[in-house]
Amino acid sequence: MEEKISQIQKDYLEKIQKAKTLKELDEIFLELFGKNGAVDQLSKQFSTLSQDQLKIIGPTFNQVKQQLEEGINEKRTNIREESYKRLSEENLTLQPSRLKARKGHLHPVTQFEQEIVKLFKNLGFVEADAPHIDTDYNNFEVLNIPENHPARDLWDTFYISSKFQVPSSKLLLRTHTSNSQIRILKDNTPPIRMMNLGRCFRFENVDARHEHTFEQFEIVYVDKGVSMAHLQYLSEYFFKGTLGQDIKARLRPKYYPFVEPGVGVDASCVFCKGKGCKVCGQTGFLELAGAGMIHPDVLKAGGIDPNIYSGIAWGVGPGRMVMLREGIEDIRLFNSGDLSFLEKY
Ligand code: DAH
Repeated sequence: MEEKISQIQKDYLEKIQKAKTLKELDEIFLELFGKNGAVDQLSKQFSTLSQDQLKIIGPTFNQVKQQLEEGINEKRTNIREESYKRLSEENLTLQPSRLKARKGHLHPVTQFEQEIVKLFKNLGFVEADAPHIDTDYNNFEVLNIPENHPARDLWDTFYISSKFQVPSSKLLLRTHTSNSQIRILKDNTPPIRMMNLGRCFRFENVDARHEHTFEQFEIVYVDKGVSMAHLQYLSEYFFKGTLGQDIKARLRPKYYPFVEPGVGVDASCVFCKGKGCKVCGQTGFLELAGAGMIHPDVLKAGGIDPNIYSGIAWGVGPGRMVMLREGIEDIRLFNSGDLSFLEKY
């Protein structure tokens, strides 16, 4: 037994001396003092010894145990101190990282939207809120587009599953910012100058010019004596502010159920300045917005007397404007998350 003890003492003191890392020391410690370790194994054999043998071996065993434990602790301190010393003597030359931090920026459409919101704030327009998920009533019915009206085909959208429907009206993803009109009219009293900006959704066959998710911008202006002249002015104000001071606006009759009269709002072509080119199909104009005098029924539904007040509703697609301004040919790039595209703007 004594031999075994001194063998362990010799072997392990040597191992401890040779250890170079704290990890090696941890392993040695476990080999010695862990469950079923060398020390454990030895002490299990004590039951076979006589009292007299125990009296001699016991103290030796304890001494060796202590010596080994102290040896490990001492070596631990040495290793630590050595590594601190090495670190403090080491000549560290720090170099700036080669990986440049990537700075993000706003999406090109968002940048454009901030511009147009500012333009209309300058005329006293205030931003109004309208939800992306809205009722069939707010998005269609109140805008004179009842169920089965053929105009619904133009604005087909995504409907919320019947499980989540409210009893009063079907829920859907709004097809246009025109869903803000009824809210704006109901919640305010004329004079009203408000705008709504945001995401809209359509059940589209997605291609280079059509997206299922896109942005719209809408303004609503109601007061006594508001007329088509204001509509012409606001349209031109918008085009001059976004496309250039030499751009003119042209109003062309167009049917939208919620305005009367309704107009397609064209801008003189940014490429040929109205002379006629390939982009504008030789017409000299590009159709960019939709607008009109708010239909009396819509005003009435909003609690506004059409005999006293009149109003303009005007809507545009900021994405389309950015495409035109920047020469972007595929609308799908906007939501693609393609950094090589986004970083250009
Ligand atoms: N909501 C229409 C669309 O998505 C655009 C529009 C047309 C808005 C006429 C209007 C308007 O305010 O008066 O195509």
